[in-house]
Amino acid sequence: MKNIWLSLSIRHKLASIIFLIVIALIIIIFPVTSRIIKLSLLRQQHEHLTSIKNLVIKLFEDYQSKVTNYTRLFSNDRELKDTLFYHTELAGEREHPLRAVERLFSSFDISSIELIDSKGDVVAIAEKPAVFGQNRLSDSLIRRALKGNVASGIELTDKGFLIKASAPVYYNENQIIGVITSGILLDNILLSRIKQLSNTDIVVVDSKETIISSTNADKTEIRNFSELLKDNAQGYIIVEFPLVDMSGYTIGAIKILQENKLPEIIARAHFVFFVLLVIISFVSISILFIALKKMMSPIVKLKEGAAIIGKGEFGYRIPVTTQDEFGELSKSFNSMAQSLENLHIMEERLRQSERFAAVGRFAAGIAHEINNPIGNIIGISKLMLKGELKDRDKDDIETIIKNADRCARITRDLLMYSRQSLPNKEIISVKELVSDSINAVRQKINSKDIEIKTEIADGLTDIYADPLQISQVLNNILMNAVQSIEYSGNITIEVMPLGKDMVDIVVTDTGCGMDEDVRRRVFDPFFTTKAVGEGTGLGLAISYSIVQNHGGELLVESIKGQGSTFVVRLPLRDVDGQTV
Ligand SMILES: Nc1ncnc2c1ncn2[C@@H]1O[C@H](COP(=O)(O)OP(=O)(O)O)[C@@H](O)[C@H]1O
Ligand SMILES: [Mg+2]
Repeated sequence: MKNIWLSLSIRHKLASIIFLIVIALIIIIFPVTSRIIKLSLLRQQHEHLTSIKNLVIKLFEDYQSKVTNYTRLFSNDRELKDTLFYHTELAGEREHPLRAVERLFSSFDISSIELIDSKGDVVAIAEKPAVFGQNRLSDSLIRRALKGNVASGIELTDKGFLIKASAPVYYNENQIIGVITSGILLDNILLSRIKQLSNTDIVVVDSKETIISSTNADKTEIRNFSELLKDNAQGYIIVEFPLVDMSGYTIGAIKILQENKLPEIIARAHFVFFVLLVIISFVSISILFIALKKMMSPIVKLKEGAAIIGKGEFGYRIPVTTQDEFGELSKSFNSMAQSLENLHIMEERLRQSERFAAVGRFAAGIAHEINNPIGNIIGISKLMLKGELKDRDKDDIETIIKNADRCARITRDLLMYSRQSLPNKEIISVKELVSDSINAVRQKINSKDIEIKTEIADGLTDIYADPLQISQVLNNILMNAVQSIEYSGNITIEVMPLGKDMVDIVVTDTGCGMDEDVRRRVFDPFFTTKAVGEGTGLGLAISYSIVQNHGGELLVESIKGQGSTFVVRLPLRDVDGQTV
């Protein structure tokens, strides 16, 4: 996890931090906001229900006053008054009041009309013409009307709840000859009308919770309602208020059923809110990501610039595009690059002058090396020309030849060194090369007591190299080894593979060894610690470049007074895959 984090770019790191913050915010904000949404929706619902309840109560009162007004109107009907008066007071032969009652009943939108005489006995009932004579003094509405009051109330009849009003019927100013009542049945039709206004279902129940009427005329619907009520109104909210009769008894209740859509609305609100949050987060993170990319581009340029300069293009400069910290950084970087470039130029100059100095030393070396033999040659030749050396002519000519030989050797070595001719490779046997070199060297050991040993690893016989050049390298190293041993010692030559591709030829001697200063300069041309005439200082310089031209390495290790080890490390095959 930590590794992944470390390997992320700054832009990704920042973006993921912001992303985590956004997620955390969503986790915090979401429940809080959802609670606020829920509470406000609940309050809204409560207000809505209250207003519906008020509406239904208002409609109910409207019906009550409508019935009252009708009743009052009926009590003043001329025909009704006259017929009642003649019927009751005069035990009349005249028309029965039922006709007037029926006329009123049919001309008004009303459920019942009852006419009662002053003794409380029923004279006529509009819907039941046959019923009369029943005493209604027990009815408080009738009693009140007989006392001269107009009254209204609710009654549970066999047809259902009746909104009923009563009014006294006066014949003269103050003679009450009877009572008229009328009522509106709180039936399904009426409730459906209320539903049209309130847009809610309404159920009217009696005191035993039996449904008396409801907004739906359909029987199955009524049953559904009763199941619904029994079922604790799953999915519905019920607001109810009691129906109270004239004597103050609760005889039933009106229940307003409102489908509870709140959970669905809340779920939808949550969903919308959530989607909005996600979209906003996504958009803002994307914008941030793009902005970060733009902001980070100077850093990326800095990185690229560093890589380019690292490759040695010191002249490269980063474009400074902003004035902010990145701009400052780019400027500092550029001035650093400038310093580097200056340093590099200085270093180049230094190297150049060193090269000139080296060439100078080189030329001086050549002059010195060749001057001596040439001087000898010229001196002896002059003497011979004067005829002064007659007796020793032969010796002198030999000396001339020897010195000229030496000049020739130096020039040959020099040429070889300066041309650094490319190796002419072929498959050669290491074993043969080594033993040839040892034979050549043995002849020059003279009086010294030197033992030469060879150890060649099994199966390692052939390499791909220039035989002349490599034997020259071996000769040089072996000659040096011999020269490093004053009286007696050992020289060991080991040949062993290094990995699959290389071979090491290791030459170890128990000679005088070298101090650090000498060891560091052994490959310099003309560097020699030997007496004039004994060494040219070119042997190892030539060997070094030969080995390098073969794609190998020439290494040296030495301890002063103990001996030295030279390693000729050569590739077994060529780069182009030519193998042994
Ligand atoms: N095996 C060795 N032991 C000690 N010194 C060595 C050995 N080989 C080379 N050197 C030192 O390195 C110098 C340079 O060697 P080389 O280039 O062969 O030139 P030269 O043999 O002509 O001096 C020698 O003069 C000697 O000081
Ligand atoms: Mg030498």
